[in-house]
Amino acid sequence: MSDNTTRRGLLKGGLAAGAGLAMGGGAARAEGDPLITEVQPWASGLGDGVDATPYGLPIEYEADVIRRNVPWLTADTISSINFTPIHALDGTITPQGCAFERHHSGAIEMRKEDYRLMINGMVETPLVFTYADLERFPRENRVYFLECAANTGMEWAGAQLNGAQFTHGMIHNMEYSGVSLRTLLEEAGYDTSATWIYVEGHDASSNGRSIPMEKALDDVLVAFKANGEALRMEHGYPVRLVVPGWEGNMWVKWLRRIEVRQGPVESREETSKYTDTLADGTSRKWTWVMDAKSIITSPSPQSPITHGPGPLVITGLAWSGRGAITRVDVSKDGGKSWETARLAKPGETKALTRFYLDTDWDGGEMLLQARAMDETGYVQPTKQQLREIRGENSIYHNNCIQTWWVQPNGEAENVEVS
Ligand code: MTE
Ligand code: CO
Repeated sequence: MSDNTTRRGLLKGGLAAGAGLAMGGGAARAEGDPLITEVQPWASGLGDGVDATPYGLPIEYEADVIRRNVPWLTADTISSINFTPIHALDGTITPQGCAFERHHSGAIEMRKEDYRLMINGMVETPLVFTYADLERFPRENRVYFLECAANTGMEWAGAQLNGAQFTHGMIHNMEYSGVSLRTLLEEAGYDTSATWIYVEGHDASSNGRSIPMEKALDDVLVAFKANGEALRMEHGYPVRLVVPGWEGNMWVKWLRRIEVRQGPVESREETSKYTDTLADGTSRKWTWVMDAKSIITSPSPQSPITHGPGPLVITGLAWSGRGAITRVDVSKDGGKSWETARLAKPGETKALTRFYLDTDWDGGEMLLQARAMDETGYVQPTKQQLREIRGENSIYHNNCIQTWWVQPNGEAENVEVS
């Protein structure tokens, strides 16, 4: 590229930024700020060489963007949960290092060489796959969200946890590389009259779950990479099950065995581990699919507005276990009026969708809400609508609209509106 074209490129870039300004983006006039007008220490010496960090971590100034536990929620960290810092992330891909973890008997350490996966039960040939065996089957790459059925579970009875990380952070979204489960079932010669599979992990809890055959043959993956690299130990290294759109509990980590069966396994760990209590006191089973849901990640209690009135980017995430998100609306007045947000890109099936509402904040208080719609026409319910059916004693599958009360000083709080 010649000097000339480079300069022209820069000039164009400058003009584009200027146009943004005219529309009201936040920026100051150039003069009088030493951070831009004077030579700074980082420009007067040399930086680190390329080998200083063979595998990089985020810079120290981002030390706040971490998973967090709520110690009083569970008795011990071995069978516990932490939360993704969704309030501080953008885009849709969750870096593995800050993607929430949920284990029932701790994260186990296993070498690839020691890994084995058995497929048995109603099959022509019971098979045992090594990790190297799995690598020889045709691979797929797919982005999916994983949401724990307990996500937002603390919010049934009232506004409880003060931050999107805690109310909605039992979710992550990664690009998985792996083999379709269907391929492996075909390799073992599954009996076409089988109706279920039972899957379990190598860990002490085994986290056994039964999955209907129809789902097993549809889009389930046996995955060994996430976001391009090996699964982290806490996410099931070296191999986990990916069950798109269905509750996280079924995504068995450290996948050990798949039994092809007639009917689900009859045990506490079986068919409908998580039941949903209804307002009339009865319970609902078989609620595996995660219904459409959304959350404003910023502004939010952990991500307050730090500037005055004027341009404000309201942003968040939306997802549906039934398909793609088609629309997200944002309300600033607790659901009285709605504006349609801009999707960063068209919704993808069973994956997180990022939305933005580029708005002009008058500096007054807001009752911020987001409402997701998916390709089936389903509309995310209000808390009140959900309670009419589910009461207040449920724990799992809370996909209600969340409200943040934003105050004139920019701080936000978890509240309920009637
Ligand atoms: N698989 C095994 N083997 N052991 C477990 O404890 N926890 C389940 C599921 N798979 C679990 C498991 C639950 S409840 C959830 S929500 C997801 O894994 C969490 O996956 P993550 O730790 O990668 O976020
Ligand atoms: Co879970």
